[in-house]
Amino acid sequence: MEQYAIKGGNPLVGEVEIGGAKNAALAILPAAIMSNDTVFIENMPDVSDTNVLLQAMESVGAVVERVDRHSVKINGAKIADVRLDADYISKIRASYYFLGALLGKYKHAEVALPGGCVIGSRPIDLHLKGFRALGAEVKIEHGMVIAHADKLVGAHIYLDTVSVGATINIMFAAALAEGKTVIENAAKEPHVVDVANFLNSMGANIKGAGTDVVRITGVEKLHGSEYAIIPDQIEAGTFMFAAAITKGDVTVKNVIPKHLESTTAKLIEMGCEVEESDDAVRVVANKRLCPTHVKTLPYPGFPTDMQPQITVALAMAEGTSIVTESIFENRFKYVDELAKMGSLIKVEGNSAIITGVERYTGANVTAPDLRAGAALVMACLAAEGFSTVEDIKYIERGYEDFPAKLQSLGAQIDKVETERDLQKFKLKVG
Ligand code: UD1
Repeated sequence: MEQYAIKGGNPLVGEVEIGGAKNAALAILPAAIMSNDTVFIENMPDVSDTNVLLQAMESVGAVVERVDRHSVKINGAKIADVRLDADYISKIRASYYFLGALLGKYKHAEVALPGGCVIGSRPIDLHLKGFRALGAEVKIEHGMVIAHADKLVGAHIYLDTVSVGATINIMFAAALAEGKTVIENAAKEPHVVDVANFLNSMGANIKGAGTDVVRITGVEKLHGSEYAIIPDQIEAGTFMFAAAITKGDVTVKNVIPKHLESTTAKLIEMGCEVEESDDAVRVVANKRLCPTHVKTLPYPGFPTDMQPQITVALAMAEGTSIVTESIFENRFKYVDELAKMGSLIKVEGNSAIITGVERYTGANVTAPDLRAGAALVMACLAAEGFSTVEDIKYIERGYEDFPAKLQSLGAQIDKVETERDLQKFKLKVG
């Protein structure tokens, strides 16, 4: 079974290049088929989630041409099917973006309902509310969401909860609706802005992305475009916290420092030095981390996708911290795994009360989901001795070349498949 083998204790030192934003790519890829012209996308992360979406696009008739590892040409002129029902589709949550993209372009979409996931129930009622407001009839039958409209007409939509997915999905359908749509209480995440910029580069008319009111004037059709995806703020933040927890000195390159402000602010509170330049951030940690409190919030608040990483770091700080998760209901499952390494964390409701310990000890742990998986790897890198992390398929959904990037910073980590590989790794690292 594939797993990461890790020998902890080395401070991470050096420079690491950050890839394109996974969550932007997961929306931009389905949006690319909204045009009949060819769309060229650069800075696409090569992770399993984006590869599954590309496969899904091909399955409905899109032509996908890999130009190189991070660039792809997509042509959606010959989409033959508006039904995506393969089993693998419901496992990729972002498959919901095909609903807005296909409904906008073809006024009909049938997509397998994305399943729940370990971080809690993840409804898509707001997406559907938005489609209905634009005039679509939406029903759920046999595990499929079926949306149909004779025509889509712009509307005023208020989102009860700030939702990244609903904001983007409604933007897709509204971009090709008749007239004006206003989305109020919209999500402001950098990738919402990136997706709006991408659609605008294809001829859409979207204003206000990045604020809580997004205004879309529908256009008749979208044309081809060349577009580079923004850097991944969560990948960057993960390496920044990896530097902090290992008392290292890491420069994350190819980032937009503004997108990392909440992460940077917390690292400074925790006693790290953070230096920003135009497109890089350097994190230096040379003493034990200080405790702090944090609550996850929609952007520009502290991201829920960084919650496990900060928790794992605070669990080695000198004192007590409280981490409150306000976006997802069940995002502390990894705490039981971390306890195997000696952490002292008590979860009460949606808060984790953390008593910092001086050291972690290596253990065999299992990744429960993508971000928690990455956080457990960070803990293993800081731990004394040898660890393994299982279920790395979750980590590979969102981190490209994670072991190689960590190795380049001096980490002792390898992906191993067999017991023999594991023994070899142990012999190598001593
Ligand atoms: C996206 C990200 C995910 C990130 C999350 C919050 C992608 C593919 N995933 O997920 O990594 O953790 O944003 O930044 O981009 N909600 C509803 N009804 C809905 C939709 C959402 O009640 O129809 C609730 C959710 O349960 C959650 C909150 O709204 O409590 C925010 O969810 P949302 O922003 O929609 O997350 P996703 O788009 O699924």
